[in-house]
Amino acid sequence: MRIYDALSTYSKKDAVPMHMPGHKRYAYDYLVGAPLDITEIDGFDDLHDADGLLREAMDNAARVWGSRHAFFCVNGSTGGILAAIHACAPRGKKILVAQNCHKSVWHAIELCQLMPVHISPPVEEDFDIFASIDAKVVENTLDENQNIAAVVITSPTYEGVISDISAICAAAHQHNVPVIVDEAHGAHLGFAPFPDGAVRAGADIVVQSLHKTLPSLTQTAIVHLCGDLIDPAVFRRSKNLLETSSPSYLLMASCDGCAHLLGSDTEPLNGWANVLDLFYARTAKLRHLRIFRPRGRGSVFAHDPSKIVISTRGTSMTGVELMRRLREEFAIELEMASGDYVLAMTGFGTTREHITRLSDALKAIDETLTVSAQPAPILLPPPAEQVMRPADAVAAPKLCLPVDSTEGEIAADYLWAYPPGIPLLAPGQRINRAVLDAIVALRVRGVVLREEIDVVEESL
Ligand SMILES: Cc1ncc(COP(=O)(O)O)c(C=O)c1O
Repeated sequence: MRIYDALSTYSKKDAVPMHMPGHKRYAYDYLVGAPLDITEIDGFDDLHDADGLLREAMDNAARVWGSRHAFFCVNGSTGGILAAIHACAPRGKKILVAQNCHKSVWHAIELCQLMPVHISPPVEEDFDIFASIDAKVVENTLDENQNIAAVVITSPTYEGVISDISAICAAAHQHNVPVIVDEAHGAHLGFAPFPDGAVRAGADIVVQSLHKTLPSLTQTAIVHLCGDLIDPAVFRRSKNLLETSSPSYLLMASCDGCAHLLGSDTEPLNGWANVLDLFYARTAKLRHLRIFRPRGRGSVFAHDPSKIVISTRGTSMTGVELMRRLREEFAIELEMASGDYVLAMTGFGTTREHITRLSDALKAIDETLTVSAQPAPILLPPPAEQVMRPADAVAAPKLCLPVDSTEGEIAADYLWAYPPGIPLLAPGQRINRAVLDAIVALRVRGVVLREEIDVVEESL
């Protein structure tokens, strides 16, 4: 039985709720979903030690995605990533992380007092976005660094760039090192006609936000365990340590409903892919704006077409301006603008009308653009050198300085634009000119970044 059906049946019983939550299932106008919002009462299992309704739901999700074990998360991929890293990398170890990891990866590194060893994805220069991680670089880095506890890769990236996870796993598994894939943006991968995902590619832990691309409530996520390098009991322990002891049944019903939908009716995925084809066809002849469609391009292993990346590079307009024009002139709200591009994120619920409005708006804006003679700045410099563990830098005596005057200092905090929440600077990194120049260039392009940052006092 689906969790939603069990909740609906129960809500119709005349049971006296002498248990949490305090609203007692009374639907105050601001309490959407209150009639179904219960706690771990008889018959409704316990997420942290599931052996009934929730166990069945998570086993079904594992079947639908093809993993060995699935775990529902009510704190988004953020919670799943914290638990995954905690499970693989006990305190003080080294961890191999790609430069474009989300802030939740950094928070896990800080929490577990790990030392990050960086790998930098190449930059897809035409669009100024990170391309795929090369498995050879992972292999070489593992050869050069002993005692790496895990490899963490973001695939797909915010912009839909997918890495060759099978090859990365082959390299890591030779060293007996588990691979954690942050697939927050790719819960739909592996379902035709979308590209394959990390579960099928054999990653050890795959963390997926259901809410980002699939029909599921915000905060819902799933963690999949796939191989036998990770003991499910160890992962469960880490997850229990970091997640609320009162998980929302509305969120868990949403995870379960989403899994049942994907397991029974994949036709909407074809509909979604068809409207994407329509978008790419309708925008093929833009004169100035460029749409990312890297079929067969060297540095991009594969691309998820559901992430529509539109570059303003070489025109008189920045990404932030394009995002503002789409909002103000066409009532289209995008996911993100970075230096010279914007990201329009589509999902299971995207309709032909959404796509038509977006493509018509882009055509209208394209007509108004002119070519810019300005050279393109470097907005994605290599990561600054990591000279201390992030946790040590955060704990050290610090001073707050204007960012522009910190060259040579060691950062004691993060600096990122949100979204995407990928640090330009992280604690323990020696701040260099290239990173400061990128920060200035991003600000000139209207990207909002903090003006001050904490630095480690000893480094002054
Ligand atoms: C790459 C990546 N990983 C993880 C997360 C965290 O996901 P959630 O919002 O589900 O916690 C995000 C959020 O935007 C993200 O972009």
